[in-house]
Amino acid sequence: MKKIPLSLNMVILLCLAFLFLPGCQKELTAPNGLTFSFISDYKNWPLISFNYRQDLNELHMILGNRTALEGYLNGTPQNGKPFTDGSVLVRLIFTARPNPNFPQALEPIGLQRLDYMLKDAERFKGTEGWGYASFIYDAENRTFKPFGKDASFAQECLNCHRLAKTRDYIFTSYTPKAPK
Ligand code: HEC
Repeated sequence: MKKIPLSLNMVILLCLAFLFLPGCQKELTAPNGLTFSFISDYKNWPLISFNYRQDLNELHMILGNRTALEGYLNGTPQNGKPFTDGSVLVRLIFTARPNPNFPQALEPIGLQRLDYMLKDAERFKGTEGWGYASFIYDAENRTFKPFGKDASFAQECLNCHRLAKTRDYIFTSYTPKAPK
């Protein structure tokens, strides 16, 4: 039997001891290889905009990393220029319900899913420059699990995102928080 190095033993022991610490949890990987940990600091990212899906009664919060925000501030995608490689957009999908004290106002409850798109023209040639990933939220256990049986799930994402082909496949525009 091969001897496992002592340091690895230590890591395994620590992981067993702190099984519920995020660092020791199993990596969440979408079938096309995109990981959840890649966007793990998304909670600190700037808000790009928010969308209401009438057909699904969902509120969507769109966040972007610095690279994506810079693209928006430079006029992408309306100016016809694509986002720079490394741009990431996250979409948090919430169920919408009427506010109990003012039903005309809709409020988000219950996170359902987190989607993200990563721009890398070379790596994601097969899906026209963007990598797609989706993670379903399990509220009871407060964990995510990757969506998609195999890598072809991303083609379904792309099929719909083609409607925004002239905007580098991105539907959402940046909503400035104050006029310039
Ligand atoms: C039936 C059409 C459709 C499908 C399928 C679809 N999307 Fe989208 N997606 C949209 C629309 C419309 C928006 C903008 C409005 C909104 O938030 O829903 C959007 C927005 C997004 C955004 C924010 C950036 C943007 O383009 O505005 C991300 C990230 C995203 N989708 C990821 C995904 C992923 C990952 C999948 C596949 C698992 C997927 N989408 C499948 C229609 C679709």
